[in-house]
Amino acid sequence: MMTMPYIAGNWKMNGLKSDLSLVLDIAQCAKESNIRVSLYPPTSLLHYFADGLSRDFAGDHILLGSQDCHHEKSGAYTGSVSARMIKDSGAIYTLVGHSERRQALGETCVIVAQKVERALEAGLVPVICIGETIEEKLSGATLRVLSHQLRDSLPESLNGAHFYVSYEPVWAIGTDHVALDEDIIAASRLIEAHLCARFGHEHHAKILYGGSVKGHNAQHVLGLDQIHGLLVGGASLSLETFKPIIKAAAFHLA
Ligand code: PGA
Repeated sequence: MMTMPYIAGNWKMNGLKSDLSLVLDIAQCAKESNIRVSLYPPTSLLHYFADGLSRDFAGDHILLGSQDCHHEKSGAYTGSVSARMIKDSGAIYTLVGHSERRQALGETCVIVAQKVERALEAGLVPVICIGETIEEKLSGATLRVLSHQLRDSLPESLNGAHFYVSYEPVWAIGTDHVALDEDIIAASRLIEAHLCARFGHEHHAKILYGGSVKGHNAQHVLGLDQIHGLLVGGASLSLETFKPIIKAAAFHLA
C-alpha cells in the first residue's frame, strides 16, 4: 500500500505572527488534497501557530516541527532551546544536522547524534539531515561522506524509533539545481542499506530528499526508489509555490 509522502516546509529564518494566515491556507490546501504537511517555522512561532491551527481545527493537516534543538537537556546555555521546550510548544518533529547549521555553526556529527538523543527523550520525531558539499562531490567522496555522517550522526538509541533521514546535497540547497536521479538513487540506496544493517530490515525510518524541490520536479523526485518525502525550503514560503508540491504529493498517493 502506498504510504502518504512526508512533505515538509522548512521556513528557515523567515516568518512572523502575521503568517498564520499562510499557515491556515496551507492547511486548507493540504485538507483539500487529503495530505498532511509538516511545517518547520522559526521556534518563536511554534506555540502561536500550534494554537492558531487548533483553534481553526486544522491541526490534522499541518504538523509542526522545529528547525533545531539543543544537544543538552537544560542548563546554562543562553539563547538555546531544548527539545522538551520544543515539544512543549506543540511540535511533533525536529530537524537536526541541517547543513546550514553543520557548516555555519560547526555542528559536528557527535553533536547531531546528541541532539537526536535529546529529541527522542522529549518525544519528538527527529529528521536527521545529511549531505555532501560540492567539493566532496567533485572529488568523488559523496558516498564515503554520507556513510560517515550516517555512522556518526545516528545514535544507537534510534533502534526501534520512528525517524527520518533527509538526503540534502549541500550544493543543491537554494540553488535551483535539484540533484540528478542517479545521485538521489545512489544516496537513498546507501542510506537504506545503512538503516537495515544498523536497525534491521523492519526499521521505522523513512528517507526524504531536500534541495531545490519545486512544483515542477516534486512529483518526479517522489517517484524515485526509496524516497518517501520531500524537505522543501524556499518553495514552502508561499502558497503559490508550495501548493503544486502538495498537489504532486496528492497525485503520487492517488
Ligand atoms: P531549498 O532548501 O528547497 O530552498 O533548496 C531545502 C532545505 O534547506 O531544506
